[in-house]
Amino acid sequence: MKKIIIAAKSQNNVIGNKGKLPWHSKEELEHFKRITLGFPVVMGRKTWETIGKPLSGRLNIVITRNEDFSTTFNEVQIFYSLEEAFIFLNKSIYKKAYIIGGGEIFKNVINEADEMIISEMNFIAEGNVYFPEISKEKWALESNEKRADFIVHHYIRSADYNI
Ligand SMILES: NC(=O)c1ccc[n+]([C@@H]2O[C@H](COP(=O)([O-])OP(=O)(O)OC[C@H]3O[C@@H](n4cnc5c(N)ncnc54)[C@H](OP(=O)(O)O)[C@@H]3O)[C@@H](O)[C@H]2O)c1
Repeated sequence: MKKIIIAAKSQNNVIGNKGKLPWHSKEELEHFKRITLGFPVVMGRKTWETIGKPLSGRLNIVITRNEDFSTTFNEVQIFYSLEEAFIFLNKSIYKKAYIIGGGEIFKNVINEADEMIISEMNFIAEGNVYFPEISKEKWALESNEKRADFIVHHYIRSADYNI
């Protein structure tokens, strides 16, 4: 099962501001939906709180360390570590899962993800949550796709850097 990071970051690597997305881009949200629809989406508890309801047409997986955490949405699956979530997904019918954030989750997953789809917005933004550094040794840039508000960078793990 492929683990694919999908994120949107500003020119200065900001992804979040005070629990929210720092910008509103309909085009970027549509891109996110088109890519992730039909696949599991794995998110940290704080990102779950930001979204507030399950993303439709996708298996929603929330990661928390809090064993008392619950939601009123039956279709949401909760795991207490990323490892547990990936064990579950590896046994599932899915061939890939999207890791959708936020900052803490990206930091924990970047060294074991297989691919990354990063929207680089055309502007700088103010915020308090950042995307981790993308190592040029570990990641190969496969393609760049230009959109009106952003460029989509598609990275794959460098062949000579499998961990
Ligand atoms: N631009 C983008 O692409 C994008 C995408 C997603 C989110 N965001 C933004 O990012 C911000 C949220 O990011 P964040 O870094 O503050 O929080 P986050 O990564 O969404 O969630 C952090 C929480 O996830 C749980 N967690 C993280 N690692 C874990 C692990 N290894 N095992 C078990 N639980 C774990 C913990 O939950 P508990 O505290 O419950 O234990 C932790 O407090 C928001 O501003 C949001 O809007 C941006």
